[in-house]
Amino acid sequence: MIDFKVHEDRCIACGHCVADCPAGCIVMEKGALPVIPDEKKCIGCQHCLAVCPTGAISILGVDPDESMDLQYEMPTAHSLETLIKGRRSVRHYRKQSLEAATIKKLLEIAWHAPTGTNAQGVLFTATMTREATEALGKEIYARLGKMLPELDPQQDTLAHKYMRMAYGAYTEHGADVILRGAPHILIASAPGKIAVPMVDCVIALTHFELMAQTMGVGAVWDGMLTWCLAEFFPDLAERLGVPKAHKIGYCMVFGRPAVKYHRTVQRVPAKMNLVETF
Ligand SMILES: Cc1cc2nc3c(=O)[nH]c(=O)nc-3n(C[C@H](O)[C@H](O)[C@H](O)COP(=O)(O)O)c2cc1C
Repeated sequence: MIDFKVHEDRCIACGHCVADCPAGCIVMEKGALPVIPDEKKCIGCQHCLAVCPTGAISILGVDPDESMDLQYEMPTAHSLETLIKGRRSVRHYRKQSLEAATIKKLLEIAWHAPTGTNAQGVLFTATMTREATEALGKEIYARLGKMLPELDPQQDTLAHKYMRMAYGAYTEHGADVILRGAPHILIASAPGKIAVPMVDCVIALTHFELMAQTMGVGAVWDGMLTWCLAEFFPDLAERLGVPKAHKIGYCMVFGRPAVKYHRTVQRVPAKMNLVETF
């Protein structure tokens, strides 16, 4: 039941909802209010509610008057460019855990990232305390200590090579290159049966990382943690609450940075294939 309602006094019959519906499921006969004859076609994206200039449409029980107004406070091109270019992978963290409210706010905002077929299936699993993160780290290194000697170095995959490097750094120098001493981890997972689980997870984490930066929170995409939780020790992911039927899209660690960057890096020129005719 999608609960598509049109406020008769507000609707000006402009037809924007009909034109913008990605499923093409809204119909408006001349002189009548818009309707959705076949509810099964609707993907629940709420474009009808968002595009309506008079706030006449409600769908899925959502009140248009409670949506954020988009007339004000959009970042400028320059401020967004600064955010994107100024974002850095943070590998040094303050020890303190973040406040739960900060983490929840970031996750709620990242949740607004687009998802294929509007599946909205991404699950964020975050450790909320430094203690929990450290306990996980200890368990990972203990497991690596058992796993690595049993492997034939001649058969090492890239992941195994990185794990040997990480385990060596930990045991020989006390350096934690898997969790980077961060107070929190974040796993994005999604049910294997939705359209594009891995892509949805990666897009969500990308939004998380950028938004985090605006709130003084740093993060790093963590391939080594992803190998540990998705490939080597999936039972640890399960213990953290990631459902068995989920695919892990990727993992990050995050927290307050103990490093400050003063300028952007300069990437090699962008690779572009610009097609003029076909
Ligand atoms: C998919 C992916 C996996 C990554 N895995 C790790 C990792 O395991 N450890 C790490 O320190 N950095 C990791 N990084 C960070 C990259 O090394 C980093 O993005 C790159 O060096 C560019 O630096 P910048 O992010 O500060 O621009 C990863 C980045 C991506 C996108």
